[in-house]
Amino acid sequence: MAKTMKPTEQTEVSEAQIAVHWKEEAYYQPSEQFKAQANMRDSQVFARFGLDEFPDCFREYADMLTWFEPYRTVLDTSDAPFWKWFVGGKINASYNCVDRHLTKYGSKAAFIFVPEPEAERDVVITYRELYDRVNEVAALLRGLGLKAGDRVTFHMPMVPELPITMLACARLGIIHSQVFGGFSGQACGSRMQDSGSRFLFTMDSYWRNGTLVDHKANADIAVKTAKELGQDVDKVLVWQRYPGKYSAKTPMVSGRDFFVNDLLKDYKGKNVDPVPLPSEAPLFLMYSSGTTGKPKGAQHGIAGYLSYVTATSKWILDIHPEDIYWCMADIGWITGHSYIVYGPLANAATSVLYEGVPTFPDAGRPWRIAERLGVNIFHTAPTAIRMLRKLGPQEPRKYKYHFKSMTTVGEPIEPEAWRWYYDEVGKQEAVITDTWWMTETGGFLGTTMPAIHAMKPGSCGPAAPGIHPVIYDETGVEVPKGSGKAGNICIRNPWPGIMQTIWGDRDRYIKTYFAKYNKNPRSKDWRDWPFLCGDGAVQAADGYYRILGRIDDVINVAGHRLGTKEIESACLTVPEIAEAAVVPVQDEVKGRVPEVYVALKPGVPPSQAVIDRVIKANEEVIGKIARPKHVYIVPDMPKTRSGKIMRRVLAAISNRRDVGDVTTLANPDVVEQIRIMVQGKENTTTAQGELPEDIAKYGQVE
Ligand code: WTA
Repeated sequence: MAKTMKPTEQTEVSEAQIAVHWKEEAYYQPSEQFKAQANMRDSQVFARFGLDEFPDCFREYADMLTWFEPYRTVLDTSDAPFWKWFVGGKINASYNCVDRHLTKYGSKAAFIFVPEPEAERDVVITYRELYDRVNEVAALLRGLGLKAGDRVTFHMPMVPELPITMLACARLGIIHSQVFGGFSGQACGSRMQDSGSRFLFTMDSYWRNGTLVDHKANADIAVKTAKELGQDVDKVLVWQRYPGKYSAKTPMVSGRDFFVNDLLKDYKGKNVDPVPLPSEAPLFLMYSSGTTGKPKGAQHGIAGYLSYVTATSKWILDIHPEDIYWCMADIGWITGHSYIVYGPLANAATSVLYEGVPTFPDAGRPWRIAERLGVNIFHTAPTAIRMLRKLGPQEPRKYKYHFKSMTTVGEPIEPEAWRWYYDEVGKQEAVITDTWWMTETGGFLGTTMPAIHAMKPGSCGPAAPGIHPVIYDETGVEVPKGSGKAGNICIRNPWPGIMQTIWGDRDRYIKTYFAKYNKNPRSKDWRDWPFLCGDGAVQAADGYYRILGRIDDVINVAGHRLGTKEIESACLTVPEIAEAAVVPVQDEVKGRVPEVYVALKPGVPPSQAVIDRVIKANEEVIGKIARPKHVYIVPDMPKTRSGKIMRRVLAAISNRRDVGDVTTLANPDVVEQIRIMVQGKENTTTAQGELPEDIAKYGQVE
């Protein structure tokens, strides 16, 4: 890595060129054994999915689904860039994930739920049982008066009731919006308001790191927040972690809160026919952070999304119905939607659902689960890999599991962590696919095809079939591969997994993802609408992409996207705070963590109490994952003469890097004061060249 650079070099080296100084990593080859059993072994697949075969190549994906009525048009571009896939078809996601497997796989496990307490027994749910439970809940939803197109919000932990309720919604065409269970009640409430949800599904409690969390308390806050924002919530439907028993302390509100298990008594054994829905009807919303403080609801449609996650689960995750697959992500994020629920189930997978923290009660837990259940496909994020490595570097050796395939997703993985994953976790037997993508894209963009391509640590690989990336510089000129230059990675063409729009905000959709490189807003030709992914990337001569991180004001904390504006607004809810600025800092385990700078209102003395209130505000407004590493009370923010806060300068200080030229600031003296506050008297800044691209670029567009 750039660590080997001499300080003298760095003055001439631009951020973009730094990329070229990264050591090229050696390739690792998939084993013959893996290749022999893989679902996709035909390297011709990339020719079949070439740009000149677009969009018809994606018929192959649609063919993996069962249709009630066939589609007429593969891709309708008449309302560009709001792409419509497989238009004219009628389909149901719940049918494709459950009903169609009953004959062949009815008695096979769909899910194996592993509770966090190790003494508690696994719960195996066969496809037949899944069918029964989804039907009952669908009957309940119908009984509540819900119908296709309505939105329902979930704020649920990692329990089987979550996918069951999702699939019940999908059966009727109800649009579900799951808010990550670790988010606060307020965050849930504001998303309920944005989506116009009148119903909230939650759970009384769940296990996290050895504690039974009172989760129902968040529902009360969510309802209150939604109401303050103008959205009435009619009913709160509470699943019980232990059916028949209430495991939270927060009282139920009479007339508003109901136990799902009580209501279900009226629907036992009921069947609900899956509704044949138009291909392009929305399936779900997934809220995600962006440049502004307001999270955006990425809207995914049924047929395009489902075909994409089905095909990529089959070819890239290499899921066979006989495999035991475990994705350790949370269903509350897009990874869980695509690669725990919809993709694997559409492939009749047996999938492990783990409730808790990977390191509870110790760093051997995942490997014990893998050994006991015979897991052979393992899917996780770099943060978990780093954590497990730190706490138990040799733990995997103690357990007799064998993975054929492993995935990493969510953040760039440094080659060193990659190698531990390969050598220790994968025991040098398993292939690794580093899958790069995002909430907006539904499924994988950059990845190797595991039986076809060699792996290269730290690079996600080339692209998935039918995905044609391009790297543009700021002016829209293509950055050629092998040039060592970084740029903004875009996808030239639409693909079935791409989101349909931002819920209720068409303009923001165009502005965020297309405006930068679209030259003709009237064009109906997809070639005029490259999709801006939001990441910086560099493409090596071999065509492999290395992802450098976000180019917008998003901090990727342990693989979770947090908008810096969201964090700053949370800080500003503390009455003493006049100004707040947040910056990303490098963290050994979590990749990036937010660090907060605040300036107080006149007359307010600095105190630990204020700092505590800022931390609490972040936990309440967003959730514990937004907890800042440090909160610094500064005498003033470094500002330009026009009064803009220079976040770039603060980011350099937090990351112990040279702040560069600050003489043009309105208040240059404050920079040194802040530096001493953060780093101490001695100047501890290190070479600029080591700064990762996302942090180097951070706050530059001000
Ligand atoms: C980052 C998660 C490097 C990236 C699926 C992206 C990655 C953001 C990778 C999306 C990877 C995701 N290598 N970076 N393999 N996968 N990212 O929406 O910055 O939660 O833009 O989706 O995570 O995060 P999101």
